[in-house]
Amino acid sequence: MKTLYLKPTEKDIETAAQIILRGGIVAFPTETVYGLGGDATDAGSAEKIYAAKGRPSDNPLIIHLSKAEDAEKYAYTNEIYYKLADAFCPGPLTIILPKKDIIPKQVTGGLDTVAVRIPSHPVARAFIDACGVAIAAPSANRSGSPSPTSAEHVKADLDGKADAIIDGGPCEIGLESTIVKLKDGFAVILRPGAITEEMLSAVVPVRRDKSLYVKPDENAHPEAPGMKYRHYAPDVPVTLLKGPHEDVVKFMKDKLGEDDSTGLICLQSDKKKIKGKNVKYLPNDAKGQANALFSLLRDFGKTDAKRVYSVTPTRTGLGLAVCNRLTKAAGFDVEYVGITIPVLGLTGQSGAGKSTVAAILKEHGAYVCDCDEIYHGMLYKNSPMVTELEKHFPFAVNDGELDRPALAEAVFSNKEKLDLLNSVTHKVILDEVRKQLKKAEKQGYKFAVVDASQLFESGYDAECKAVIGVCADEETRIKRIIRRDGITRQKALSRISGQHNEDFFRVYCDVIIENGKDEKELEKAVFGIVKEYITI
Ligand code: TXA
Ligand code: MG
Repeated sequence: MKTLYLKPTEKDIETAAQIILRGGIVAFPTETVYGLGGDATDAGSAEKIYAAKGRPSDNPLIIHLSKAEDAEKYAYTNEIYYKLADAFCPGPLTIILPKKDIIPKQVTGGLDTVAVRIPSHPVARAFIDACGVAIAAPSANRSGSPSPTSAEHVKADLDGKADAIIDGGPCEIGLESTIVKLKDGFAVILRPGAITEEMLSAVVPVRRDKSLYVKPDENAHPEAPGMKYRHYAPDVPVTLLKGPHEDVVKFMKDKLGEDDSTGLICLQSDKKKIKGKNVKYLPNDAKGQANALFSLLRDFGKTDAKRVYSVTPTRTGLGLAVCNRLTKAAGFDVEYVGITIPVLGLTGQSGAGKSTVAAILKEHGAYVCDCDEIYHGMLYKNSPMVTELEKHFPFAVNDGELDRPALAEAVFSNKEKLDLLNSVTHKVILDEVRKQLKKAEKQGYKFAVVDASQLFESGYDAECKAVIGVCADEETRIKRIIRRDGITRQKALSRISGQHNEDFFRVYCDVIIENGKDEKELEKAVFGIVKEYITI
């Protein structure tokens, strides 16, 4: 087959639409990645798509519409669908709905549900409108390889296999859409993307599907069937490195020393420290990472690298999607460097009972690092923390002694100064955490727990195997704080009002412990987590 190369002009889009209406398949740009589209009501078109991609036909396709209301024709909608569509569509969000008969089972891989997305890219929208029918489209790559973020990527994978490719330039986002299914009033995230958990949870309650962080069982039926296949992989195997950043950098340098063809994915900020012919750099911000990742993974196929090692970015916001794609590209192959025992993060609101959970984890053999304790232990005269603080806040240190009220006054209601203070304290605390963990490892501990109320803000989540969030209802927390700290109800209230609400923890943690009043239940929950994440 000869592939027709089209431009995003009205005339060419009309040509593309004619191809679709005759049962052909056309690659087109969207704001996320390029898609390979066919008529969503035509089983034959779906079969052509599967054949062109070399994709197993039990992996369902997403149908693309130009307006949210158009979903009525193809699926059974509901209130949450419209709430989400009002907030985020057109845009990089895909919603799973029960399908109507007009969508053949070939499109949905045999499922009774269909994935619906309304892209915002003007060329995609013009193309769908010109077709006048929903367009079923997976990403326009060879099955298993990274999704295409430019027409050149599509050409490399599908030249001679697609009837036409519309070149709309590079994709703005660079990672595929967020996929949610709707269950019991929740939006359950099956694939993270540019519509982040934080954004979703401002509109509907959100949960994460377990497949986001646990390696899928080959025999199981994952919620998004596509997630069980090897994904996003360049032609070279990838290993994700987790551990203290300095140790990751050292590990990378050592690997380069052993074999200068080793492929490395580093952060832009390490450019001065790590150089080599197959070293590639990811921007430090999540948006830049999302945009660069797939192209960068593809580029390793053109090098002589036999293995690629990558840094693990932080998981907040869009970072979760970046981390998810990297983890899949690595086939869940993670190597812990510096510290080899697994580390669980422990966080939550004050009064929710983090310390109680930490104590139970200790009974299960964990080494517990308490960041609050580390912080308070570092406020003595001329401590490394005070010395570091003096560099940035000279007025708050007199004779090596920290003037805490002066410091508090300076950062109070000044966000920039508060961020600076946090970045200084986080660094010093985490250095100490890493030191303690190395010691614990030498002492023979099998796993460790890092108890930190600012775990995510410090970026330490990226070094944890999983993050546990402890939650409890507000009244319970207030009572606990009053009892524990001997303060008034008023003070307790004002203390918790400045903290993250519960949704924050529900959204970002891998597992939530509800700390009600029943001790037995709590112990059972903690034991379950130890069993799931720690193989001793
Ligand atoms: O950004 C995107 O979503 C891009 C552009 C082209 O729109 N499309 C895309 O499609 O990434 P694809 O086929 O590469 O990924 C679709 C994912 C697969 O993991 C599939 O299993 C899941 O969506 N999916 C599709 N229909 C589903 C359904 N009914 N239930 C659960 N998961 C579904
Ligand atoms: Mg895909």
